[in-house]
Amino acid sequence: MNEGDTTSKRKIEHVMIAERDEIDLSVRGGSWFKYVILEHNALPEGSFDDVDLSWNFLGYDLSAPIIIEGMTGGHEDTLPINKALAEAAQRIGVAIGVGSQRAALTNDSVIDTFLVVRNRAHDVPVIANLGVSHIIGEQGPENAKRAVDMIRADALAIHLNPLQELLQPEGSTDFSNSLISIREVIRELDVPVIVKEVGAGISATVAKYLVEIGVHAIDVAGVGGTSWALIEGERSPHGSIKKEAASHFFDWGIPTPCAILEVSSLDTITIGSGGVRSGLDAAKCIALGAHAAGAARPFFVSALSEGVEGIVKKLEAFIYELKVALFLTGSLTPSQLRLSKKYVLLEPLKSWVEGRHIFI
Ligand SMILES: Cc1cc2nc3c(=O)[nH]c(=O)nc-3n(C[C@H](O)[C@H](O)[C@H](O)COP(=O)(O)O)c2cc1C
Repeated sequence: MNEGDTTSKRKIEHVMIAERDEIDLSVRGGSWFKYVILEHNALPEGSFDDVDLSWNFLGYDLSAPIIIEGMTGGHEDTLPINKALAEAAQRIGVAIGVGSQRAALTNDSVIDTFLVVRNRAHDVPVIANLGVSHIIGEQGPENAKRAVDMIRADALAIHLNPLQELLQPEGSTDFSNSLISIREVIRELDVPVIVKEVGAGISATVAKYLVEIGVHAIDVAGVGGTSWALIEGERSPHGSIKKEAASHFFDWGIPTPCAILEVSSLDTITIGSGGVRSGLDAAKCIALGAHAAGAARPFFVSALSEGVEGIVKKLEAFIYELKVALFLTGSLTPSQLRLSKKYVLLEPLKSWVEGRHIFI
């Protein structure tokens, strides 16, 4: 099997495991959004119809600050999923990412599984995706350019996933020169670079390095939703050290509300993701300082169970709840909510903020 085939095979295994609720920490009560309470305003000004969610991102006017996070592509069976996600993104007017394009760098036959997103979503931002290990070294900028050109993307998301790689049976474990390589890609590409995690979060310290080298946006992808430790644990042989480690590290990382508070204190576009399961969670992300909220697994599950109509319904539900939360906090736009900081933090989130000396 060549590298492309191995990557394709892994992709389809990930897709099959990610469908199961047990790998979602939000289903196990592991989301920290419950420790954020938005301040209710019993005397809102204006009409509900005046609430305006519109958001300009990567040069597109979008209906809401919501992102369908990068997930699939890379195996022929993922084409219908990406097609449905893209059609829903186009119909509603939200940004969309594709999954890691690594497989398509060595196997042309899977390019269509990614390109379908651009072809079905022409009026919204489409975000290319590669892991940091694929942009390290001499070939890095070339890989990045190919991923972007392959789908005529508006930006490239580089994912950082050290926890996942360490627990993956065949993971890459050398992350040397990651920051320098990201900087090189930023220099060489003519589209902006977003850096994201995949469910373990990004701290203020890491975000500061990323902002210094010119990253356009940081997508925190914190703890509280899809757990890649649990997914990789499922793939590890019974009795193996990695399987046992996965059972201990399943909720390792920075809970999403904490990561948003850490990253949004910096001068960058912050995307809140990781366990966002409703429009109310999205509103909490924005109140904590994010410019937008992203979700992966909810749209993925809708795609598998109900196709494009299911994803559209899920997006409409997110948008309605986001509007309700804005109105009930006396905000007519997401930026008003973000700037007003109308929230109360409960324990243990409150202690996180104090312990990390986050200035709100
Ligand atoms: C089925 C599936 C596949 C994913 N594949 C990728 C990927 O290829 N690249 C990436 O950056 N993130 C990938 N992710 C991670 C998501 O983009 C997101 O960061 C993470 O799932 C947390 O969001 P959630 O809790 O809403 O699912 C994937 C997520 C899922 C559910």
